[in-house]
Amino acid sequence: MTAAMKTTSVSQPSAHLRVVSEQPTPATSGIAISGVSKTYRTRDGDVPSLRPLDFHINDGEFFVIVGPSGCGKSTLLKMISGLLAPSTGEILVEGNKVTEPHGDVGIVFQNSLLLPWRNILANVMLPIDMKKLPREKFLARAKSLLKMVGLEGFEKKLPWQLSGGMQQRASICRALVHDPKIMMMDEPFGALDAMTRERMNVELSRIQRETGKTVLLITHSIPEAVFLADKVLVMTERPGGIAAIYDVPLGRERNLDVMANPVFTELVSRIRKHFMTQSALD
Ligand SMILES: Nc1ncnc2c1ncn2[C@@H]1O[C@H](COP(=O)(O)OP(=O)(O)OP(=O)(O)O)[C@@H](O)[C@H]1O
Ligand SMILES: [Mg+2]
Repeated sequence: MTAAMKTTSVSQPSAHLRVVSEQPTPATSGIAISGVSKTYRTRDGDVPSLRPLDFHINDGEFFVIVGPSGCGKSTLLKMISGLLAPSTGEILVEGNKVTEPHGDVGIVFQNSLLLPWRNILANVMLPIDMKKLPREKFLARAKSLLKMVGLEGFEKKLPWQLSGGMQQRASICRALVHDPKIMMMDEPFGALDAMTRERMNVELSRIQRETGKTVLLITHSIPEAVFLADKVLVMTERPGGIAAIYDVPLGRERNLDVMANPVFTELVSRIRKHFMTQSALD
């Protein structure tokens, strides 16, 4: 293992591993997850979905979660965005306890979920209209975001007139338009073909660098996770727990060549080993 490649593990501590609870967790910045678990109460009984989790996401960090299907990744994202209450524990965003959906988050879902009757610009402006923020103030921002992702000139088009990748880029603009501190993405590129997906990864990496946003992204793709992340959290099967948290020592400026870097390939195969006995990822 490369010396610079640090791991946090709760299951197999050894000389080069740090235990999660020993991580500094500054309460007033970033996202602090303390003892957060989730058990869904259903008519057929309780469904334990997440074991108590403790971890911290720093401001401006690109934090990626990988884990088997059904281990509670989307559940965790919904709890951090305030759409769902934890069964135990608490979540602090910038030191404030999350109790309801909050304005500090922009969310990108697996499918772009653009409204078919609104043109691209109007779709990007949706959060502004819903939050009743001043349109004039944010219109210029919406247009410059569209320019940043290469969609200048497509403002008046309807979603069906754009490719899947272009629609997903528009949905990223929509998540950023109200200038949230945090962007959360739940398998945003799952529906895209491999080449478009690679392009989107490069683009997202650049957007994150340019905006300095904190990004929390969920994916089933280990190479995608390592390519994008400053840190990768690997989850166990349901009820999901933390198998390990890896630092990704590949610098911030990344292009696809990084995938040939031995640090990249070693980290990908190391993370893949976590899933050898679990459900297959890709
Ligand atoms: N509303 C709900 N009611 C009851 N159980 C639920 C509900 N939502 C999710 N679950 C259960 O919680 C577990 C975690 O679901 P979740 O959607 O968070 O998984 P996931 O890790 O995002 O999976 P995937 O990778 O397939 O998207 C699942 O096993 C599911 O059975
Ligand atoms: Mg999910």
